[in-house]
Amino acid sequence: MSAVEGRLQTVAQVAHDVAQGLGRGALPRDVGRLVGLLTGRRRDRAADYMNDPGLLRAYVALYLPKNAARVALLLEKVRAEHHLRSLPEAPRVLDIGAGPLSGLIGAWAAFGALADCSALDRSRRALSAGQDVWAALPTGARVRTKACDLRDKQWPLPASAQYDLVLAANVLNELPPTGRARRVLGWLSHSGAEAMVLIEPGTRLMSRAVMALRDELVAGGAHVAAPCPVQNHCPLLDTRDWCHTALHHERPETVRKLERSARIKPGPLLLSYIVVTRAPAHPVGRRVVSGVLDGGQQQVCGPDGLVTMKLRGARRGDALRA
Ligand SMILES: C[S@@+](CC[C@H](N)C(=O)[O-])C[C@H]1O[C@@H](n2cnc3c(N)ncnc32)[C@H](O)[C@@H]1O
Repeated sequence: MSAVEGRLQTVAQVAHDVAQGLGRGALPRDVGRLVGLLTGRRRDRAADYMNDPGLLRAYVALYLPKNAARVALLLEKVRAEHHLRSLPEAPRVLDIGAGPLSGLIGAWAAFGALADCSALDRSRRALSAGQDVWAALPTGARVRTKACDLRDKQWPLPASAQYDLVLAANVLNELPPTGRARRVLGWLSHSGAEAMVLIEPGTRLMSRAVMALRDELVAGGAHVAAPCPVQNHCPLLDTRDWCHTALHHERPETVRKLERSARIKPGPLLLSYIVVTRAPAHPVGRRVVSGVLDGGQQQVCGPDGLVTMKLRGARRGDALRA
């Protein structure tokens, strides 16, 4: 097992223990309620669902380890493609819409060491549950948490608080779509960070929202290091398809049990993402953006737009050299 997967196993066990202490009663029942809520229609979701003790403990037990795994394995993949090279060995990370610090915990699992970090969320309870998990992990770093509303115009941190990397995982869907690009560019600029990683579920709806946002960010002067090989208009937006990635993860036993109880089908972790940088990016040559199609070909995005090619053993989301 890799060091990253080993740390993710520890995270799942600690998160499960903390969740047990957050309430009484059967955890699988709360998990069932939460899964129904998060996979249902957004307008049926109360804005402060993280403040419901049963839903929060279910989130900590199931989604914290899963989302930490998404962040950790994505950061590992992105670094293997030689992005985020300028980050120090122990970066200062700002987690936006952090919930119970899933992003920071994933960053710790990926990097193995972090400098002091910060987390923003409107739910004090979620931040505090995340601090409980953090305190039980051997991170050696402090996290400063700040409860705030990300819709506010004012930046919630002092100008002296500067970071190397910004993470925003599974939060865009909870913010108003108007002015999204401006808001996200503000996060990069206020934080002082060199790079920002935005992660959303790998569903058609959310991936296409990320693809559209990516076009707007480029138009606003940002650079996209990954997954896009080119900086111009996303060609997949002109199709009905969506750019997403499958990450393979050895699900910890505690997660597998809860997934079984909530009837969640086991499978790869699906996500959509963009790595936004301040400096011009050095993107990969081409990116595989489909599974194997009829005729054994796969769709590839690159400088000539979308092309189909016969590839050997390539998976959706893989980078190709040229
Ligand atoms: C689906 S959770 C994601 C949490 C964490 N990033 C993860 O990936 O597990 C979305 C989070 O965004 C927070 N959130 C939603 N709208 C917000 C707002 N306007 N201001 C601050 N936080 C907000 C919620 O409280 C919640 O913790």
